[in-house]
This record gives sequence, structure tokens and C-alpha cells, in this order.
Amino acid sequence: MVYLNGNFIKKNKAFVSVMDRGFLFGDSIYEVLPVYEGNIFCMKPHLDRLDNNLKTVNIPNPHTSEKWAKLLRELLAHQPKHKHQYIYLQVTRGCDVDRKHTYDKLEPTVYMQSTSFEDSNRDEYLLGASAITRDDIRWSQCNIKVTSLLANIMYAQEAKQNNVEEVILCRDNVVTECSSSNLFIVKNGCVYTHPKGPHILPGITREVVLECADYCGINTEEVPISKEDLFDADEVWISSSTREVLPITKIDSVLINQGQVGEIWPLVYDRFQVEKSLNG
Ligand code: PDD
Repeated sequence: MVYLNGNFIKKNKAFVSVMDRGFLFGDSIYEVLPVYEGNIFCMKPHLDRLDNNLKTVNIPNPHTSEKWAKLLRELLAHQPKHKHQYIYLQVTRGCDVDRKHTYDKLEPTVYMQSTSFEDSNRDEYLLGASAITRDDIRWSQCNIKVTSLLANIMYAQEAKQNNVEEVILCRDNVVTECSSSNLFIVKNGCVYTHPKGPHILPGITREVVLECADYCGINTEEVPISKEDLFDADEVWISSSTREVLPITKIDSVLINQGQVGEIWPLVYDRFQVEKSLNG
């Protein structure tokens, strides 16, 4: 069952008009929320980011946080009992009578679905994953979680064709984030990640990873990372709601830390697992 504009219905019965601005222009905002053992992880930060993003693009938030929380729980109650799942939530500006770039007051379209997913596997993650680097061709408001993801899906497809996990994006020799995750490096015991700003999505998982590192007594710094710093790193990780924190040990055929997962990643990963069990 999925949720569309007030109703829980079967996915194959859920239709949106061709006049919906989400369809015509990608004029919409989305969120992806992980759910562990029925508990929505970091629900408040996700709903806060949704609210901020809707404000930024001037789409009225159709619900209060309390109402969103209620709808999310109802959506989960309509799912088969998956151990872990992730909720995809989308709010479009709504449907107009005809296609035009400008808009007047419209009723937002709200869509939500939940999909089962496998929890991260420590042993698999310890094998390390690969990535490639590419120039970032996206616009300069990557901090807004908009559904216009053409560049991101082109990168994702390239990653798939190259049999790698992710594409690391580079602007003017600074590595910012990846096509669908944030980026971290470790050098001499300190964790570095790009500062919040227009060139990265302020990932919810990114915050949790920084908190976990902090908890473990590891220094963290939010500073720009050059491409040279990336290849010279002791460890490289990526983070997202569907991957948690995943070590990268090979980039563009270059081995990081001789292809081995470093010493800091397991500390942060293990703390992340504790956060998952605490935060419902
Ligand atoms: N992607 N950067 C980009 C470009 C992303 O698309 C994502 C998430 C992140 C990590 O954000 P968070 O930790 O809040 O998931 C960073 C989601 C999962 C997606 O598009 O499916």
C-alpha cells in the first residue's frame, strides 16, 4: 500500500495527473527515511529538512510535523512486516490546469511509499567498496532535496556500468559529496567532510556520523577536501540513509590504505549501530 493525497491505496492504483508540476518540471521536494525494526530513524531531522526545503522553494507544507508523524506510522502499519524498510516521501507543488512555468496557489500532491531493505552488513562493509570521480555538473543549490535528479541518475548509471558503488563529485578540485551520499576522509586520526553549503545535501546520516565520531573521541572538521587529499587519505567513507556509513577502498583504480578498511571506520560504524537502536 502507498499513500497518495489522503488515501492508502495499492501501488498499481496510484496515479498522478500529467498536469502535476512534479511530472512536468520536477517541481517537488522529497525525503528518504530509514526504518529499523519499525522505528523511523531520525524522523525529526528529516521532517525539519523537508519543512526547510519546502519553504525554500515556496511550496506550502501540507502537514504539521505531528500530522506527518501520524501519516508515516499509518503507512508503516499498512506494510507487510519487513524488518527494515525505507520510506520515500514526495511533495510536489501540485496540479495546474495547463503547463506553464509560473504558478499560482495550488494544492500540493503528497506521495509516500515504503520499501523493504537489507540492513548494512559489517562483514560485507569490511571488504570495502569502490568509487570513481567525476566533475560535478549539477546546479549550485544542491542543498535542496529536489526531485530534479537527472545529473544524479546519470552518475548512478555510470557507477552501475563501471561496477562501482558511487561517483565522487568534484568542483574546482574540491571533492564535495557523491551522487547520492555524503563524503568523509580520515587523515592522521581526524575525520574531514565538506562544510554545509550550496554544493552538498546536508545529509541526516552525515550529522549522525559526525556525532558518532565525536562520541568515540575522534576529532572532526568540516572543511573543503581537495582531490589530492582524497587520494592521500587514510580512509574514505560515504554516508546516506540507505547505506549508513560505508568505507571506500578503491577510487579510480587507486587503492586507499592499500585497499584495506582503516581503524577508525569500525569504531564509527559500531557506534552508529548503537544510535540506530537508541533512536526511534
Ligand atoms: N540520497 N547527498 C546526496 C546528493 C543525496 O542524494 C543523499 C541521499 C545524501 C545523503 O543524505 P541522507 O543522509 O539524508 O540520506 C547526500 C537519498 C538516500 C536518495 O536520493 O535516495
